[in-house]
Parts: sequence; structure tokens; C-alpha cells
Amino acid sequence: MAMVIGLGSHKGGVGKTTFARAIALVAAAQDLTVHIADLDQEQQTAFEWAQRRHESGRKPDISVDVYAGPDQAMRRADEFDIIVLDGPARAKAMALEIAEASDLFIQPTKGVIDDMAPAVRMFHELVKHGVPKSKMVFALHGVLAAKEIEDGMAYLTGAGYEVIKGSMFMQRGYGDAQNFGLTALETKWESLNVDAARVVASVVRKVRQIVEERESAAPEARKLAG
Ligand SMILES: Nc1ncnc2c1ncn2[C@@H]1O[C@H](COP(=O)(O)OP(=O)(O)O)[C@@H](O)[C@H]1O
Ligand SMILES: [Mg+2]
Repeated sequence: MAMVIGLGSHKGGVGKTTFARAIALVAAAQDLTVHIADLDQEQQTAFEWAQRRHESGRKPDISVDVYAGPDQAMRRADEFDIIVLDGPARAKAMALEIAEASDLFIQPTKGVIDDMAPAVRMFHELVKHGVPKSKMVFALHGVLAAKEIEDGMAYLTGAGYEVIKGSMFMQRGYGDAQNFGLTALETKWESLNVDAARVVASVVRKVRQIVEERESAAPEARKLAG
């Protein structure tokens, strides 16, 4: 049974697929079998990106398929150590399904109130539907300044949620890398790669914490946690 990391938001363009790719790379580099379930049948961003990666010959290959929903993807849970559920934009109902299917559910957001207020409301809604707070985390992503991280942290933790440490700034280098089938850890700029690696390391730490808190955790999850 795979360890499942879900990415969801009501908003598009916040960094879900960027996270999915970066997490998958780190898992693959640790010799885990990892699979991204691209849940956006219309846009297929992760799927098409993986094709570009494959065509460029970049290793490791990242395995991605498109699915109608988390249930369909979860049927393949026995085939992989890690499944990353990459949620679509504007699919409120699916965010709940993704959160329910996930061991860790990440919602990326900018650190401005226009974005954070609806993001917090979404988490509140998930809690109302019975999703445990302990598996939900925010990730401040695409920020423009260190102050935005600071303000974002204060706002989101004040709302009662955990925020993973580290942040990727809004930098053209990230978009550029992904144009060529690369991840946020493989840009031309070392400082960007380091920031991305720190963010993924925080995600891994959170996974480890969840695993440790669960005596019945799957062995694959222990492997990712190191
Ligand atoms: N930190 C960043 N800086 C600059 N561009 C980014 C950054 N993160 C993502 N992007 C770009 O922004 C767009 C949306 O990101 P994506 O991860 O696909 O978001 P989502 O999956 O939430 O829609 C993509 O073109 C991506 O390459
Ligand atoms: Mg996406």
C-alpha cells in the first residue's frame, strides 16, 4: 500500500503540479517507486510534462498517468511506494476526495490574504467533513519577499494550521525548468534548487512525523521518511 501525498486547492496556478513533480523527483532519487496521478483530465499538465522529460532523456523518468479521480488512482496503490495525487483546479468536491485518500494533504498558497483567506476556508471545510487537521499542511509558494513568508506563516498558523518550512519564491527559473521537463530542483540556478530541495525536505519531515505517529504505518512510508 503506497504512502499517499495529495495536493489540492480551489485555485489554479498555486504550485500543486510544481510540488508534485519536485516530490516525485526526490522520492525517485531515493529509489522509491513513485507515481504521479494527474487528476486534471482537461489540462493534463503533469502528464504532458513527464512526456517532455522522457523525450529529453532526463533521468530519472517520472511515471505519470491521468485519472478521473483519486479512487481510480488508488486502485494502483499496491504498485508503488509513493503516490502523489495532483489535484485539478476548480474542483471543490475533488479536494475532499483527495484529502480523504491522502496520508498528507498539502495546499500551496501565496502569502497574501486574497489567496490565504479562501485557502483557510477550504481547510476549515475539510475539517468539517472529518479530515484530521494533523494531515493538512499549507505551503507558502510563489512568494515575492521574505516578509510575505513571515506574514503568511503568522496568518496561517493563527488560523490553526501547520505550514511547512521553506518556500519557493516566484522565479522565472522554475517555470523555465518545467518547460523542459525538469523539476524545481533542477533549474539552472543553484539557489532556486536549494530552496526547492528545502521545501521538499520539509514535506519529507512531515511525512516522517505522520509515519511515526502511526504505529500501523506502511513500510514504504518508512522508507521515504528515511
Ligand atoms: N515559484 C514559481 N515561480 C515561477 N513560476 C512558477 C512557480 N511555481 C510554479 N510556477 C509556474 O506557474 C504555473 C502554475 O504552476 P503549477 O505548479 O502548474 O500550479 P497548479 O498545479 O496549482 O495549477 C506553471 O506555469 C509553473 O511552471
Ligand atoms: Mg496543476
